[in-house]
Amino acid sequence: MLVKNITVLGSGVMGHGIAQVSATAGYNVVLRDIKQEFLDKAMEKIKWSLDKLVSKEKISKEKADSIFSRIVPIVDLKEAVKNAEMIIEVVPEIMELKKKVYAELDAVAGPDVIFASNTSTLPITEIANTTSRPEKFIGIHFFNPPQLMKLVEIIPGEKTTQAITDLTQEYVKSVNKQAVLCRKDVPGFIINRLFIPMVHEACYAQNRTNATLEEIDSAVKFKLGFPMGIFELADFTGMDVIHKATVEMHLRDKKVINPHPTIQKMFDEKKLGQKSGEGYYKYSDDKYERVALSAELAEKFNPIQLVANILNNAAWLITNGASDISEIEKAAQLGLGLRKPLFETAKEIGIKNIVDELNRLEKEHGEFYKPDPLLISML
Ligand SMILES: NC(=O)c1ccc[n+]([C@@H]2O[C@H](COP(=O)([O-])OP(=O)(O)OC[C@H]3O[C@@H](n4cnc5c(N)ncnc54)[C@H](O)[C@@H]3O)[C@@H](O)[C@H]2O)c1
Repeated sequence: MLVKNITVLGSGVMGHGIAQVSATAGYNVVLRDIKQEFLDKAMEKIKWSLDKLVSKEKISKEKADSIFSRIVPIVDLKEAVKNAEMIIEVVPEIMELKKKVYAELDAVAGPDVIFASNTSTLPITEIANTTSRPEKFIGIHFFNPPQLMKLVEIIPGEKTTQAITDLTQEYVKSVNKQAVLCRKDVPGFIINRLFIPMVHEACYAQNRTNATLEEIDSAVKFKLGFPMGIFELADFTGMDVIHKATVEMHLRDKKVINPHPTIQKMFDEKKLGQKSGEGYYKYSDDKYERVALSAELAEKFNPIQLVANILNNAAWLITNGASDISEIEKAAQLGLGLRKPLFETAKEIGIKNIVDELNRLEKEHGEFYKPDPLLISML
């Protein structure tokens, strides 16, 4: 049975978008934040976004009004969760803050209310175990911006019941998104496990080969089917987001990521990418600008080291029971915009060549590169 009443806790970048997509699907939504001014700003953004859909004739004015009227902004926590059947928590990615918020929530929300966290990297089971209802706690990872991005990762914790996982999947479907189940609560879930280590690997590749950023990015775009280069994608995502994910993932498992010092340096120097005007590349304004990449430049760089890294992580997810090939391909297509399936690229390059590359990297740079047993079994 689907829920009808949803409270979204946190009205920032992600929260206001999740409130909007939920109201669009017909849910009654309460949007909660700690200050009225934050809620006012969020409601303004939702209004702007709905107006834009009306002006593009995607929805009627009446429809936009009815969606907007289904979102009620409330600061008082008790009042905000009074009718909630599901609470989607979208507060900042700070473990201590999340735990504090859940302690407050636990005290005011009825025992049957489902807790769903939009965390990108924090351990679901650990947060769940601080509440009175770990079996009703689940990870629901929307991508930015929720209004446009089709993918939502669903991450059950160790104690989450199948019924709650099923219900969350139904909710995701009902808001017109595609769910990918990350069957285990592993660092980075699926998309960040593929994407974040690859950004670091691209930095190593540049150091080791002296290729230019544009050559590496062109190879990633034209040979691997990414929608843009990996450095370009990092600039688009923001170095603050990448740095935060790096720290959290590395904290959970030293083997998941081989941190390259450039990420920390750029974060410290506030070179955050597109949003700050400079990241790997320089940007003249805060609008989205494409970097000049080409098929000719792509010929100057062999991306096998990057393919080896992303494939080894995909294989790790399968070997460790967190996912399977078809779910990984679906996630990569919807979450990273990949136009070519990862395992198809791998077959084109040759699994043997990829394993040889990992063996070579392991010999030269350490155990981080050890090939996953699944790749070896595919030889
Ligand atoms: N920004 C992204 O690209 C992105 C993508 C996917 C997931 N996420 C995850 O979503 C979560 C939120 O990220 P964001 O970028 O929207 O952050 P944000 O800082 O834009 O918004 C967080 C909001 O939560 C509010 N808040 C703080 N304490 C609160 C409380 N006790 N109750 C209610 N609201 C409270 C803040 O005032 C703020 O408005 C994080 O866990 C993050 O990892 C972010």
